[in-house]
Amino acid sequence: MISLQDALVNGRVTLEHCSDSAKHDCEILLSHALSKNSAWLIAHSDSALTGEQKTRFQSYIERRSKGEPVAYIIGHRAFWKHNFHVSPDVLIPRPETELLVELALETAANLAPTVSQLKIADLGTGSGAIAVSLANELAHADIVAADASEAALTIARANSRLVGATNIEFVLSDWFSSLAGYCFNIIVSNPPYVAEKDPHLEQGDLRFEPRCALTAGADGLNDIRQIVKNAKQHLFKNGYLFIEHAYDQGDAVRTLFADAGLCNINTHHDLLSLERVTCGQTP
Ligand SMILES: C[S@@+](CC[C@H](N)C(=O)[O-])C[C@H]1O[C@@H](n2cnc3c(N)ncnc32)[C@H](O)[C@@H]1O
Repeated sequence: MISLQDALVNGRVTLEHCSDSAKHDCEILLSHALSKNSAWLIAHSDSALTGEQKTRFQSYIERRSKGEPVAYIIGHRAFWKHNFHVSPDVLIPRPETELLVELALETAANLAPTVSQLKIADLGTGSGAIAVSLANELAHADIVAADASEAALTIARANSRLVGATNIEFVLSDWFSSLAGYCFNIIVSNPPYVAEKDPHLEQGDLRFEPRCALTAGADGLNDIRQIVKNAKQHLFKNGYLFIEHAYDQGDAVRTLFADAGLCNINTHHDLLSLERVTCGQTP
């Protein structure tokens, strides 16, 4: 017999060598193994685990000790206002990406008096975190969520059903290639932007995430180059392009925006005060 409290201590000891958040990871994994929330775990810390619960928890701890991200073990990650289903077919949504949602919503609110039917694209939608969050907030907007991965689109569609969003069209597309004739007021994208030989790819959660969601050529800018170059022909007059990028890519991305003929270019900082999202407008 082992109590919840003891299971948490044992799990923490096992994970301490491989996770910066061993205590938190254990609590989430135990919650998942027991299908109970953290308040319940605290209130029942002296209760004993059943044999089945113990086996389940131990298998989660073992997977985590090999580096597997907690989000893939439990199958979801919170983003904006919802819990998104995730699998190794999609990037785990990051908190800094919520800045893209925030900026798109602010822009949508500013456009509302002049645009009756807002059209928004989320390029490289992955789990659908951005598109589904926007669709949920902007029930009257038409949203296109595109990705080159059919497996990712399957997950994004499932997430839109979970949230009850009915205003998203999912398109299998290599950036704009299947979007001929589509025009938008706002395009948002969190594309792959890690350099192919970046050593971080061999560390932490990145080892388990799809490479096609992470890397973009020698300098990490290949996908951003493609999107920025072609965005203008898919934006209405005074349309907006928002692109997430690495903290040290701001200068390069602003130059790409300027070279593509976009105006009112500026870069927004994330919660750590790092350059994270660059915005530009069609003249
Ligand atoms: C960094 S992930 C972003 C996922 C999600 N939007 C998010 O913020 O969590 C980049 C996404 O771009 C997609 N992608 C990569 N290359 C692409 C391409 N050529 N055309 C369209 N999507 C692509 C990947 O499949 C992946 O889902």
